[in-house]
Amino acid sequence: MRIGVLTGGGDCPGLNAVIRAVVRKGIEAHGWEVIGFRNGWQGPVEGLVKPIGLDDVEDILTRGGTILGSSRTNPYKIDGGVDRIRQTLAEHQIDALVAIGGEDTLGVAKRLTDDGIGVVGVPKTIDNDLGATDYTFGFDTAVHIATEAIDRLRTTAESHHRALVVEVMGRHAGWIALHSGLAGGANVILVPEKPFSIDRVVDWVRSRFEREYAPIIVVAEGAMPEGGAEVLATGEKDAFGHVRLGGVGTWLADEIAQRTGKESRAVVLGHVQRGGTPTAYDRVLATRFGLHAVDAVHEGDFGVMVALRGTDIVRVKLSEATAELKTVPAERYAEAEVFFG
Ligand code: F6P
Repeated sequence: MRIGVLTGGGDCPGLNAVIRAVVRKGIEAHGWEVIGFRNGWQGPVEGLVKPIGLDDVEDILTRGGTILGSSRTNPYKIDGGVDRIRQTLAEHQIDALVAIGGEDTLGVAKRLTDDGIGVVGVPKTIDNDLGATDYTFGFDTAVHIATEAIDRLRTTAESHHRALVVEVMGRHAGWIALHSGLAGGANVILVPEKPFSIDRVVDWVRSRFEREYAPIIVVAEGAMPEGGAEVLATGEKDAFGHVRLGGVGTWLADEIAQRTGKESRAVVLGHVQRGGTPTAYDRVLATRFGLHAVDAVHEGDFGVMVALRGTDIVRVKLSEATAELKTVPAERYAEAEVFFG
């Protein structure tokens, strides 16, 4: 049997750990050949292949990024894209695909399954916003990086009696902001799920200054003020229709400075959150996902995604996994509000 593997969408620590597990178990337990596709769905559309052997995965467990490359290519937005995928699979005699990605990559995987191509999905995203799995790998690493940044920013904020606004990733879901904000003891956490009152934020900041502390505000890139809109970095959209967000942190720092008369600074963590080596938790989760994806392919169970439920890896329909984004529930956000101000 020959199987194809690809990584699509924004990269994320742990992708290489999945590839390694698929290759190791595919070759050692089943005697398969594993063909990597370059740059997400661009690989099968354009026939960009890279056979992966045991030697290729020797040292990649701890390495961030993806040895296959990634892109936000959408074959359904390319003329004849799906037919070109079929041709590539036939040409390389590939029987099934393991697609590692987030909502967009797995949305394509679902449509391809409906179109008769055998795909098993593996959920990845630092945003942790995929439905049907308790966690995605990459999230734990991103939260660690953001928490460490908050810890460091706190000491410099205190030295200068400044407010520090930390902008983290999270387009539609505030999981990174919520977890890093809680872990880092932030005084305000702002998430896309709950538009914020700027007056309220300023009150919390003031009360923090009154107690001689330097306020730390963690804001997800997709958070927006009540009655306002997301702050965009550019007007461009990617092949899945997503705009590039960024800038809410700077806007907020300026508002705080104007309204309180205190110095404020904004720090945008950006892609630092996605780079570098995965945490032990993410390495283990990614490895287990890869092993279970091989089992699904072996059993011919296509159109599914491997998912974490409690401590077990289960399979869920790709249709279920991509139906709805997993956002921060109001009661989880309310837990954090106790610490605001
Ligand atoms: O989807 C993951 C993510 O990291 C989002 O949190 C963020 O908005 C986006 O990717 C950034 O994407 P890009 O790599 O295109 O800048």
